[in-house]
Amino acid sequence: MYDFKIAATDKPTLYRDLAAALEALVAGEPDAIANMANAAALIWESLPGLNWAGFYRNVGGELVLGPFQGRAACIRIPFGKGVCGAAAATLKVQRIDDVNAFPGHIACDAASASELVVPIVRNGELLAVLDLDSPNKSRFDAEDEAGCVALGAILAKAI
Ligand code: SME
Repeated sequence: MYDFKIAATDKPTLYRDLAAALEALVAGEPDAIANMANAAALIWESLPGLNWAGFYRNVGGELVLGPFQGRAACIRIPFGKGVCGAAAATLKVQRIDDVNAFPGHIACDAASASELVVPIVRNGELLAVLDLDSPNKSRFDAEDEAGCVALGAILAKAI
């Protein structure tokens, strides 16, 4: 049984604890799907104010739905389409305060209001994107971005 207690009040501590828990979860496990599944569950349980947390994998130059927590979602997203596709095409983090103002945003769930997408890259190659959605506008700040980039770096070695 895993019972991580991640409830820090300040974000840097929260993300430090989350990164340590993720390192422990993926240690010694080579299966990418298993590691993405546990990462999605851990993030979902630890970060407040999310309505979706999970992965889209780079499958032959197209994003394909991977392990996640939340409502059933769009399955395939072309590079360059929506927030996830922008992250995949540019390899740059997308932190969007208001998804309805983002050109081409793909509304898998009409409740989503803000979004953070982190590309997971190894040796210059996109493996997947980590996608977090929130029903609250401007849910993600620079500390969330830095914390999730650190989670992405752990996952780049584990998926
Ligand atoms: N809104 C995303 C699509 C993925 S879902 O939010 C799970 C986008 O525009 O890329």
